[in-house]
Amino acid sequence: MTASRQTLTQYVDSAWGDDPTHEGLGAVVTAIAEGTRLVQEKVQAAAIADVLGTTGDVNVQGEVVQILDEQSSDIFVDVLSGSGAVAAVGSEEIAEGVIVGDEDSQRYVVLMDPLDGSSNIDVAVSIGSIFGIWKREPGEAVTADSMLTPGSKQVAAVYAVYGSSTVFVVATAAGVQGFTLDASSGAFELTHPDITFPAKCQYYSVPDGYYKNWDEPTRSAATMLRDGYSLRYVGSLVADFHRNLLKGGIFWYPADDKSPNGKLRLMYEANPLGFVAEQAGGAASSGRQRILDIQPEALHQRVPLMLGPADVVEKTVSILNS
Ligand code: AHG
Ligand code: MN
Ligand code: MN
Repeated sequence: MTASRQTLTQYVDSAWGDDPTHEGLGAVVTAIAEGTRLVQEKVQAAAIADVLGTTGDVNVQGEVVQILDEQSSDIFVDVLSGSGAVAAVGSEEIAEGVIVGDEDSQRYVVLMDPLDGSSNIDVAVSIGSIFGIWKREPGEAVTADSMLTPGSKQVAAVYAVYGSSTVFVVATAAGVQGFTLDASSGAFELTHPDITFPAKCQYYSVPDGYYKNWDEPTRSAATMLRDGYSLRYVGSLVADFHRNLLKGGIFWYPADDKSPNGKLRLMYEANPLGFVAEQAGGAASSGRQRILDIQPEALHQRVPLMLGPADVVEKTVSILNS
């Protein structure tokens, strides 16, 4: 009989309960967990819940909106707004940020990809949700600019993977904690304490189908990875990242001649997962600079993204810039 594991609620209370610098962070993470439970139910029901397919709309990214993209965004905006601790929410699915309020208790700004891996929704392949959490200064006005702070200023990052199990990963400066949803109780239990990248890198995750659109340095770096590691590419960033974090692997979505800034978004994909990667002893690079150092200019700006063990990221960056 396994000793009872700490739940997310117990973790939040023990880690941040008495810490005034983290006041309200527990309410934010608890709200995200509640939203994750609601999204997970829809993901599991899928066609039964009539959430497959598209809404017919095109979002600010120029991408067709999946029904579950929109419903997930609505769910998370709702639970975050109701937490009492959130001043503003930026979402991949919403052109402008949502200003919730500027009470002192509304200390946090959350940027999110409510449903990552949309192309996999209809085929029952792992998808997820990604959140970056910044803290605003008391009295600071809450405007669109509140959502454009470098990733290095994040106080926490969270992601969920709706896979063969539903995992919920929370990163702060104190480390990376992995929880698993117990569907029978609805509790998230601490199953992966203190996650760090393994010393040995096994995998690389690169969209090899775009090889024809890459420049020579990108091709050389991708060839080095192909010669050294096994290819695993799900097409859901958060699922690829989670496997690489636990098993040792690098994820890289390069720039190409059609997408000079790559495809992935700085504020709610690169920054949160870059924060997790660094807290797990790894690195996050655009290929030109540390992701978390980038001064954002727009809510939905794109960036080439490399996430993985620090030595493998450095090796890839050096070939890319040789
Ligand atoms: P989203 O569904 O939030 O738009 O993200 C999809 C992203 C990311 O999850 C994945 O790594 C990438 O798109 C896959 O892109 P390709 O289909 O071009 O490989
Ligand atoms: Mn995404
Ligand atoms: Mn998305």
